[in-house]
Amino acid sequence: MCGIVGYIGERDAIPILIEGLKRLEYRGYDSAGLGFFSKGALNIIKNKGKVALLEEKINGHNHQSKIGIGHTRWATHGIPNETNAHPHFNKEKTLLVIHNGIIENYQPLKKILIGDGYEFKSETDTEVLVHLIDSFLKKGVTLFSAVRHALNQVEGTYGLAVLSCGEPDKIVVARKGSPLVLGIGENENFIASDVSALIAHTKQVVYLEDGEIAEVYKDHFRTKNIEDEEIQKEIIEVTMSIEQIDKGGYSTFMLKEIMEQPESVLNSMRGRLVHDDGTSKLGGLESVLNRIANSKRFIICACGTSWHSGMVGEYMFEQYLRIPTEVEYASEFRYRNPIIHPDDTIFFISQSGETADTLAAMKEAKRKGALVIGICNAVGSSIARDSDAGVYIHAGPEIGVASTKAFTAQLSVFALITLLLARRKDMSLIDGKKMVEEFQTIPGKIEKILKLEKQIEVIAEEFKNAKNFLYLGRGYNFPVALEGALKLKEISYIHAEGYPAAEMKHGPIALVDENMPVVFIAPKDSTYDKIISNIEEIKARKGKVIAIATEGDDDIDRLADYVIKIPETIRMLMPILSVIPLQLLAYHIAMKKGLNVDQPRNLAKSVTVE
Ligand code: F6R
Repeated sequence: MCGIVGYIGERDAIPILIEGLKRLEYRGYDSAGLGFFSKGALNIIKNKGKVALLEEKINGHNHQSKIGIGHTRWATHGIPNETNAHPHFNKEKTLLVIHNGIIENYQPLKKILIGDGYEFKSETDTEVLVHLIDSFLKKGVTLFSAVRHALNQVEGTYGLAVLSCGEPDKIVVARKGSPLVLGIGENENFIASDVSALIAHTKQVVYLEDGEIAEVYKDHFRTKNIEDEEIQKEIIEVTMSIEQIDKGGYSTFMLKEIMEQPESVLNSMRGRLVHDDGTSKLGGLESVLNRIANSKRFIICACGTSWHSGMVGEYMFEQYLRIPTEVEYASEFRYRNPIIHPDDTIFFISQSGETADTLAAMKEAKRKGALVIGICNAVGSSIARDSDAGVYIHAGPEIGVASTKAFTAQLSVFALITLLLARRKDMSLIDGKKMVEEFQTIPGKIEKILKLEKQIEVIAEEFKNAKNFLYLGRGYNFPVALEGALKLKEISYIHAEGYPAAEMKHGPIALVDENMPVVFIAPKDSTYDKIISNIEEIKARKGKVIAIATEGDDDIDRLADYVIKIPETIRMLMPILSVIPLQLLAYHIAMKKGLNVDQPRNLAKSVTVE
């Protein structure tokens, strides 16, 4: 949420910063700005709207700079406008700050600063930081000390970057609860909230930890903690490539990521299936496997789409492992003093690995002594690093704001964990081998479903003007109904609800008339007959039915208005297949409405604020 990028070196900083901001735009896109040294003075250029508008504005100036920082914003305090956009100046324009996160005690700090004569121009919490740092600088301390003293007074979260005319050879950065990474180059260095902004220039990175502050010069950097103690940081090589974060010939990141799923699901399983033993191998869990297997209870904790994948995980764990499993919203879990035992294993699922609620819930679970497992996509992210053990889903960078390939890769990892543990319990070698073989068919089956895109586009055309949608499923496909509804709301702004199909008659059926499209996830499984009765109930009330059914099921054709037929698989793996048509349906409805699917209104990738 919000993006930060910075450059210090011998090259022209401005194009590097603009390019970095474009890479980060998926993290927030309501305004953008740059702060940089030019002709010995600090300058700010910023505006409301996308980075492309900022670029146009900057092209109208003739600035040369070798040190600068940039920001793309997702508004928390104050509406998206030029004044509230970052960076923010002090009065004399000798100090500027960009900030991700939320300063929780900004009101009392602001009162004190106003009492000291400071004037505030914006409605942001960030401006407090500028004046606070300025107040320490005026006492004659170094920029590093001023930042450190200011942060000691601050409650909340920050990823922070600061430039000062008094020390024009450095960028000072700090992190607490909002990611910051340094990129180490040859006689040039970078800072960013996300490695995707740096990897065009360097793959050598240093992840800052909470409570760390760094001074970044063009040829070296220095790190201390907030107590002023020197810290040695390890330089890590990242494996992400620039091709992975480009659109690769697709018109949108979302479509590229939907289409990548045969490969991303394959990558999530690659090297992890052991056919001869009918099991899986997950290196990241080996050290804690006994503890997981002996757990009395599992909890799965996440937000949004990751929470939906957790619900599927619950069904898998309970069906195959018979270990009681609860699925929790991270935002609720962290605040309600949850009952946690040392023999609980808690799985924290997060694509970004930076979601503030999930991270805080994980810290709470650790404090209470549970075993904490991270299931993340972003390599080196906070949840991945702070968990006791974990598994990467290896979906590759997900840039489209609506999560697609991360969801299916998360489901794949849940299935791998289930197989691994089930084989230590009751599952036979023969059943394990059969399951491995079924896993191996999934990427090919996804490929087959993706070929139905044209058929789904026709359905999208028919329903693009609907005001409401219902999504219904049973068992493993109930979370898929929730996920299908979430995808549609996020990118098409059509109101959509997901429900367990049987719950429909306890309320939502009142909404059904000839204007209500109802999507049924109705593969041939043990609940098939029941779901057919639910379809009959909708048809009796003139609702329009779109069914996701199993290939070869011709009975459903006479009932549903539209049928999308997908290959068969075992129940546990069905959500990986059944969600794909729903992603495509949401995508094509939004595109037909002329909407920006990669950057839907009000949303941002990676929600690093509460
Ligand atoms: C939905 C979506 C969000 C995220 C949620 C959690 O398409 O992207 O609902 O799933 O914000 O994010 P992560 O998985 O990064 O913790």
